Amino acid sequence: MSVSWYTMVFKPVLELGRQTPVASQPSNQIYPQPRPGFAKQGADIYRANGCVTCHTQQARDGNTSSDKARGWGVRLTVAQDYLLDQPPQLGWIRLGPDLSNAGARLADAKYQLLHLYNPQMVMKGSKMPPYKFLFETRKIRNQGSSEALTLAPEYSPAAGYEVVPTDNAKAVVAYVMSLRSDLPLFEAPMPQPKTNAPATDATNNAASATSTNSPAAK
Ligand code: HEC
Repeated sequence: MSVSWYTMVFKPVLELGRQTPVASQPSNQIYPQPRPGFAKQGADIYRANGCVTCHTQQARDGNTSSDKARGWGVRLTVAQDYLLDQPPQLGWIRLGPDLSNAGARLADAKYQLLHLYNPQMVMKGSKMPPYKFLFETRKIRNQGSSEALTLAPEYSPAAGYEVVPTDNAKAVVAYVMSLRSDLPLFEAPMPQPKTNAPATDATNNAASATSTNSPAAK
């Protein structure tokens, strides 16, 4: 009992519990950065709406898994990535795509709002439920809102009405777009393309200056 407590609770807490943001190499950026306030608010909406039941935020190593081919993670995600998220939204089932690096590939907030309002409208056959309750259908006043969704006639509300995102919808989209895990870290470098050639700094590479098994230069 005490051995398992030590190995499964105490030691991991010692190893991972005291991590602090680090400077990423070679860019020297401090990582991770706190999310902007609106995106932070969006994390609560994400949690409250059960997005985590279908989306993971944990990418596997780009060389040994299919995550890279799917365009999800570009590198392995590690504890450092979740340092400032309380609680981290790791997820466990991948009914939808992994979102650990969603911000890098989903750049269009307007499209994200349309998708959130009704996924099937933009992604035929999507299994993601519509989140219409995060939007407001209201009477058009004056010119109408500049934030109103541009909907095809079959999805439009009655004439004289428009659909506008609530702050909750905008915040959850800001949160998804803030998700990035593509900065190379010491413990999670960018995967290199697979090749049989020895690494340039490998000791068995004849071209390397540090080569120990190449014939001595005369
Ligand atoms: C019942 C499962 C389910 C739930 C719950 C769910 N999603 Fe999805 N989601 C999916 C599926 C399946 C897809 C892939 C098809 C598509 O793009 O619509 C997807 C796609 C996405 C995408 C596009 C990802 C990409 O790489 O193109 C985003 C962003 C997204 N979901 C965000 C959310 C957010 C935010 C929530 C919570 C408000 C949520 N999802 C809740 C199943 C779900």
